Amino acid sequence: MIAASPKLEVRDLTKCFRRAKDEPLRVVDGLSFEVADLEFLAIIGPSGCGKSTLLRLIDGLIPPDSGAVYLNGKAVTGSGQGRGMVFQSFDLFPWRTALGNVEFGLELQGMPPAERREASRSYIALVGLQGFEDAYPHELSGGMQQRVGLARALAIRPEVLLMDEPFGALDIQTRDLLQDQLLHIWERDKKTAIFVTHSIEEAIYLADRILVFSKSPARIELTMPVPFPRPRSEGLKTSPEFLEIRRSIWQVLKKDALAEEHLA
Ligand SMILES: Nc1ncnc2c1ncn2[C@@H]1O[C@H](COP(=O)(O)OP(=O)(O)OP(=O)(O)O)[C@@H](O)[C@H]1O
Ligand SMILES: [Mg+2]
Repeated sequence: MIAASPKLEVRDLTKCFRRAKDEPLRVVDGLSFEVADLEFLAIIGPSGCGKSTLLRLIDGLIPPDSGAVYLNGKAVTGSGQGRGMVFQSFDLFPWRTALGNVEFGLELQGMPPAERREASRSYIALVGLQGFEDAYPHELSGGMQQRVGLARALAIRPEVLLMDEPFGALDIQTRDLLQDQLLHIWERDKKTAIFVTHSIEEAIYLADRILVFSKSPARIELTMPVPFPRPRSEGLKTSPEFLEIRRSIWQVLKKDALAEEHLA
């Protein structure tokens, strides 16, 4: 159930991209949903359906054509108002150390140097990277880089944490490990979170609720509550209830994938 006043509300959101000679591309078309305070929402949907665009709209990095995103009832009009983003690809500054990357957002917030160094160190430790503060991104594995990205997003103490396939480019073992670390961090330091993924399992394992999107322009095809108690652990992934939810979501995604194949 959604509480009376949601933490975040997406209302009638529409976004078109205008491209040189082509028709405008309607990527998000009248999309509406709500996210409750401290809820962990996962979004899953076919490639190109508009998930990253939606997160960028929520983050205020790009403006909508119509509709709006409300955070605590106030319309979002630009970036950096209480949202922290972890991107699909590793997007660390290569010329800054791990610590320097985490400090970045705090610098923008105007936090004094000693304070922001200390805060950044604690977030580096929180994501399990103690000892790597002075390493540069090229000296870190993909999983470590994504953990720095997560520490950077958490350090600004966002009201809503936006994650765009943060583990998508990682091998399965690293991904499983980071899912557990993320859950652990999230359970200690609860935040409203929106997590985009292509993995049905990952969505069920992490989230309180899952939105399944259609192909572009994204519509909500299915809203799936995930009833499992927390803390969650690996064993859950093979329980009959987990597999049943996975099957229901796959049915919906498969329908779109088959329709696509039929057109091709
Ligand atoms: N700045 C842009 N200009 C023009 N078209 C864009 C722009 N950004 C995204 N698009 C188009 O919008 C559509 C949705 O892109 P988006 O990145 O939101 O999809 P996605 O659901 O995140 O896909 P994936 O799962 O592959 O990451 C795509 O067709 C893409 O080409
Ligand atoms: Mg994307």
